[in-house]
This record gives sequence, structure tokens and C-alpha cells, in this order.
Amino acid sequence: MDRAAVVAGLGGWVPPTVVTNDQLAAVLDTDDAWIRSRTGIQERRWVSPGQSTGDLAVEAGRRALWSAGTDSVDAVVLATSTPDRPCPGTAPEVTSRLGLGPVPAFDVAAVCTGFVYALATGAGLIALGTADRVLVVGADAFSTLLSPSDRSTRVIFGDGAGAVVLRTGSYGEPGALRGMNLGSDGSRSDLIEVPAGGSRERSTGLPVKAEDTYFTMQGQAVFAEAVRRMAESVRETASRIGWQPTEIDSLVLHQANARILAAVARRLALPRETLLSNIGRLGNTVAASIPLALADGVATGELRPGHRVVLAGFGGGLTWGSLALEWPQLRPAEPEGPADSRVGAGSDATGPYPAGPAPSHSPRGQRPPANF
Ligand code: COA
Repeated sequence: MDRAAVVAGLGGWVPPTVVTNDQLAAVLDTDDAWIRSRTGIQERRWVSPGQSTGDLAVEAGRRALWSAGTDSVDAVVLATSTPDRPCPGTAPEVTSRLGLGPVPAFDVAAVCTGFVYALATGAGLIALGTADRVLVVGADAFSTLLSPSDRSTRVIFGDGAGAVVLRTGSYGEPGALRGMNLGSDGSRSDLIEVPAGGSRERSTGLPVKAEDTYFTMQGQAVFAEAVRRMAESVRETASRIGWQPTEIDSLVLHQANARILAAVARRLALPRETLLSNIGRLGNTVAASIPLALADGVATGELRPGHRVVLAGFGGGLTWGSLALEWPQLRPAEPEGPADSRVGAGSDATGPYPAGPAPSHSPRGQRPPANF
């Protein structure tokens, strides 16, 4: 039976607090020129005290449900590496707060590849007939993992959430997830890690070193792997469905670093305009970066129905993956509002990303608030 997973709704949300390069330069040995030239980042959003990944996920999920025109799904998959607590997963609570009832809900941890893995999981639930509709969320509050004194990580990451609703459909229709490629290499898990807080460190019974509780990465090795793996994965996915890489209209890469995005496009012989990018305004938002880039692309008109789209992620694990689809016509995530009231509204080309309202619970079926 033809049980393709089709993208039926899209939403995104970032917390209101803007952190500029100059603000970071006031407390770290760095400066705006270095950050812009080495990463392409001008500013990022960080959660405020007490705000969590779950709060971001609820807001993005609500917008995606609105965009899909539904208030029910059969499963929720949340990609995150910054759960609200180490145990339990964050997805069940997000599901309850969205009023979605006692449906299956679980987290997927694949760091910056998380959203691609979560989409693959959602598509699998649909293919098996376990679900007809799945909410897939990518959300991270990575600022909570960053060492206050580490200039090489603190400048890169931002917080946010993005979500899509997948519904059952057929492989030939716009929005259907088609080619897919996933991979991992655990022999290089030390390139991106938080050393403490897991069973390996806790079973030692030794006092935990403060620096081990923070995120670390080996920047140059990560850079090289990210370029190689994403380019290879995009090629593989395109070839599985008979596309030449040069036929891709929109390449939506994990927003790791503007130079990484440009290098992948070069390897694939794609013009820079093919890249959707909001890293300048949001930084690297980990599992949220791909759906937020999609939301921004739709809002600015850079991503249009009929485009041949490939999404590709790379992250800790190491993990990587990509997915292809023809972009569908979607209902905007915002029900109404002023001309500038839209879900993304902030690609690097078009100006500041809108601030969001404070996250709040709203009962099932209620309209989401405007994004700002
Ligand atoms: N401001 C100023 N200098 C900085 C800095 C900052 N924020 N961060 C690092 N530096 C310094 C380093 O300390 C180093 O100084 P040294 O030569 O005196 O030791 C110098 O800049 C060069 O460091 P290097 O790591 O070679 O810089 P880079 O050009 O590779 O850029 C990253 C660093 C982190 C921006 C880059 O490696 C990167 O983006 N890597 C991938 C990150 C990523 O995508 N992570 C997420 C995984 S999905």
C-alpha cells in the first residue's frame, strides 16, 4: 500500500531574548568581526531563566498543528539533545501541554541531525500504519550547555524550535518524503560531546568537574566532517530518486556555520542562492535549525511550492542524514495579523527575526498566538 509521509504543516518559534555579538564580546575575548567572518553569525536567541526546550517545542508544535489545520495527531517525535530533564524524555510533556491526548511520544537524540532522524522516524510510523499523522519537532536550548568562558562554542549556538506535521499520502504528491540517507560514525563521538552527566561519568562515583558538564567540540575536525558528510549524503539521497544534485532548487542544510553551508554548496556545484540560511540571525539552533530555515524560507518566498528540496543534517555522534521532497503548498503557520506577522520572517536577506511571546499553555484547538 502507498503510505508515504507527506509534509502537511510547518511552524517555528524562537525565544524573545536577542544576544548580539557585541554583548558576547563584552564578556569574552572575541569581537563582532571575528564571529561574522568565521561563522556568519550576527546574533542569536537564548532562553531566559526558567525557560526550557519543552516551552520552545510547545510553541513550534502549536504553529505546525495550526498550519496543518488539525488539532490531533497519532504520535509525537521530538528531536532534542537538551531535554527539560535528563529523565524522562520531554516529548510526553510537550504532547500533554498541546492537548494531544495519550498518543505515543518520545525523544530522538541525534544532536544537530536530530530533526532529519525524527522525520525518518515519523515517516516509519506512517509507513507501518502505526500513525496517520505525526507531529515532528526539533527543539533545543543549547545555550544552557555552553561554558560561560568558552568563546569557541558560546558564539555559535542559539535556541529555538521548529516543527512539521506529517500525514499519510502517496509518494507522487508534493510534500511526500522521498529519497532518504542516514549514517553515523561512533568512533568519532569525542568530536562533539558533553563529557559528564551520563552513566559513564556517574558510575565512577568521582566528583564531577565543572568543565565536563559543558558542551565541547573540536571545531576544525567537525567543520571538515560536516562538509564531507552532508555533501555525500545529499548526493546519495538525490541519486536514489534520480535527481542530479544540480537539479536541487533549495538546499536546506543544518545551519552550523555559514562557511560550512557555502563549502557544501561548492562541492555540489550549486549556486549560493540555492541555500536557505538564517544562521546570521539565529546562529546554530541544533535540532531546530532545519525546520526554522524552512519556515524562514517560506516566509520570505525563497522556498516555493514545486521546489525540489533536499534537507541535510550533520551533528554529534557523529550522525548525518538527508531527505528529499518536492515542496508543497502549506497554510501559513500564523492565522492572521499584520503584514509582517509570519512564522519565520527572518532569513539573512530580510532583516530581524521577530520576537516571540512568552510560552504559555493553550487548550486543544485554540488558535496559536501570532509569532510576535
Ligand atoms: N573569537 C576569537 N577567536 C576565537 C574564537 C572567538 N569566538 N573562537 C576561537 N577562536 C580562536 C581560537 O582560539 C584559535 O586561536 P589560536 O590560534 O590562538 O589557538 C583561532 O581562533 C583559530 O581557531 P580555529 O578553531 O582554527 O578557528 P576556525 O576558523 O576553525 O573557526 C569554528 C572555529 C568553531 C567557528 C569552526 O571551527 C567551526 O565552525 N566548526 C564547526 C562548528 C560546528 O558546526 N559545530 C556544530 C556541529 S553540528
